[in-house]
Amino acid sequence: MKGVPSMTKEQIRARVEALGEWFHNLDLNGVQTAPGHFLGDYPRFKFERFAHALPADLSGKSVLDIGCNAGFYSLEMKRRGAERVLGIDTDERYLAQARFAAEVCGVADAIEFREMSVFEIAALRERFDLVIFMGVLYHLRHPLLALDLIHEHVARDLLLFQSMQRGSTEVEPVAGDYPFWETEIFERPGYPKLAFVERRYAHDPTNWWIPNRACVEAMLRSSGFEIVSHPEEEVYVCRRRELTERERGDRAVYPLH
Ligand SMILES: C[S@@+](CC[C@H](N)C(=O)[O-])C[C@H]1O[C@@H](n2cnc3c(N)ncnc32)[C@H](O)[C@@H]1O
Repeated sequence: MKGVPSMTKEQIRARVEALGEWFHNLDLNGVQTAPGHFLGDYPRFKFERFAHALPADLSGKSVLDIGCNAGFYSLEMKRRGAERVLGIDTDERYLAQARFAAEVCGVADAIEFREMSVFEIAALRERFDLVIFMGVLYHLRHPLLALDLIHEHVARDLLLFQSMQRGSTEVEPVAGDYPFWETEIFERPGYPKLAFVERRYAHDPTNWWIPNRACVEAMLRSSGFEIVSHPEEEVYVCRRRELTERERGDRAVYPLH
């Protein structure tokens, strides 16, 4: 992608500063947007660990980036040739950063950024070949509902998923059922567990539920996503499957359209 030649480095730097604090460290024609990020060169260093697990060529494909922030993944998917890229986020400040980054990269007309919550995606009335849901699940008070809505309304094929995880990384097979008197499984490290954050974790009031690895995998499966690969400790590539009649019956709790 070719950048906007008319902007000098100084002009880009001034706009980057005016757009507030950045979470994504993007390289905009040599200007770093978040060089002091507490995780390092984020999310570039993370992406490099799982980029190989995504299709290299997205020509003709559509992408929905939920919780797009400043658009790192939207820009990367456009670089892979995606025909349509829509990034949504609830924070207008991040969306303004994303629009500016797309402008500098010369793709302002090719990526749409819209203020929208994951809980509103039924209104899109559109399915996407690749849905990106990275780093959002644990920020939601109703995480399983979000996964159900993604399955029900916008996912067509692939889901790229990431969640912060805490607790054990062990995963034990989940039995079909357990007797009422079986209580020991809840103590086992490989059983799915979701920790509730009533107050704060990492000084962030928007952290609500933090799963262990077994729980992430169980939630994805339960929402109708088969895990295709696990290329990085927090990242999963999944494929949407149809729910069975029985599963659909168990889940009729989200808004009907
Ligand atoms: C930790 S950042 C992750 C950003 C990016 N997806 C990534 O992986 O680098 C979480 C993002 O989710 C957004 N977000 C929080 N709640 C949301 C919601 N209900 N719907 C859509 N986006 C949301 C935040 O504004 C923020 O940009």
